[in-house]
Amino acid sequence: MIKVGVIGLGRMGMLHLMNATKIEGVKVVAAADSSKKALKKAEILGVKELFEDYHKLLNTSSDIDAVIISLPNFLHPESIRLALEEGLNVFVEKPLANTVEECEEIAKLVRKSGRRLMVGHCLRFLGVIEKMKGSLDKGIIGRLEVATLEEVINGPFAHPRVPAPVSDWWFDPKKSGGGALLDIGYHMIDLFRFFAGDAEVVFSSLDHKFSLPVEDGAILVLHSDESAAKGIVNSGWYQQTIFPKYNFRAILHGNAGFLSSDYMVPRNLYSHAAKEGVKNLFRKVVGKKVRYLSYTYYYEAFYRELEHFFDCIKKDVDPLVSVEDGLNTVKLIRQAYALADESSCKK
Ligand SMILES: NC(=O)c1ccc[n+]([C@@H]2O[C@H](COP(=O)([O-])OP(=O)(O)OC[C@H]3O[C@@H](n4cnc5c(N)ncnc54)[C@H](O)[C@@H]3O)[C@@H](O)[C@H]2O)c1
Repeated sequence: MIKVGVIGLGRMGMLHLMNATKIEGVKVVAAADSSKKALKKAEILGVKELFEDYHKLLNTSSDIDAVIISLPNFLHPESIRLALEEGLNVFVEKPLANTVEECEEIAKLVRKSGRRLMVGHCLRFLGVIEKMKGSLDKGIIGRLEVATLEEVINGPFAHPRVPAPVSDWWFDPKKSGGGALLDIGYHMIDLFRFFAGDAEVVFSSLDHKFSLPVEDGAILVLHSDESAAKGIVNSGWYQQTIFPKYNFRAILHGNAGFLSSDYMVPRNLYSHAAKEGVKNLFRKVVGKKVRYLSYTYYYEAFYRELEHFFDCIKKDVDPLVSVEDGLNTVKLIRQAYALADESSCKK
């Protein structure tokens, strides 16, 4: 049994906690959050050891093997370092950290510790993205020329069933490290690297449609030396989107055809949910593994990334998303911020 501590129980942390409780061979034994309300929710979900101070979870919690960190971005480096020093495996929400220097430091610590660290690059675990990558690798669209990756949603302004204020750290650049680019553009850049290989940012433009101290939109052009492909990234926080609506698409243009996620995701997410519900019932009856969250289509990726992380710990192998993937994505983000600053100075 892998014993787990969950650190940070906000929007993402609670989702990870709930997902972890459904993974075979995993037990969430501890949770930490500075909010008593969040700890109460974890208690209701059966977590026994609760801490307001995550340092105490790391120092005193009984023999945990791994932690899931979903703290605000600026707390990632310290919490990762302490967890690795305690000999724990780490799943950390993206971004790995806010700066390249912090990411490099973490990469060194991971190598030294011999533990597994995976960054939450959840979109790589989305069914449609896996299918597109499989088809690309089989050569179905020939050589990849251009990838278009876009996600325009409401970011931290997401509308839960019970509306909640957005945590302040999101709009403090020192704590968040950035806005829509670091939040959503991050995933689009990671997908470009996933499809095309390592890249450089050749154009970057940031938007400030709202009066926020961080950008609410970003458009980038990327170029990969590895594959010679170009990427167009369009990301934003300015559109009201209520789940199951999800304004995300990936299009791969090859010299022998194209693949678009729009043609490959379920057309009607409500009928998909109903079908998956019935399939899961059948899976349960015949003793097959139930695909938890498969009815939500997009949200299943969060379950599958965590399942993969724990599988890697069980099998003692490296996760598909390495610490270098986290580091290289942050490098490109920082390049994009620097380029956007340069071009705004010239105007
Ligand atoms: N993969 C994705 O698609 C995705 C989506 C949203 C957020 N994220 C990432 O997940 C992480 C968390 O984001 P969120 O939306 O859950 O944020 P959030 O503000 O909802 O949650 C953060 C939690 O951390 C707790 N916290 C803050 N400071 C603390 C401290 N010093 N000690 C203990 N607890 C503390 C807060 O009480 C809160 O419960 C961020 O790194 C964010 O970038 C990823």
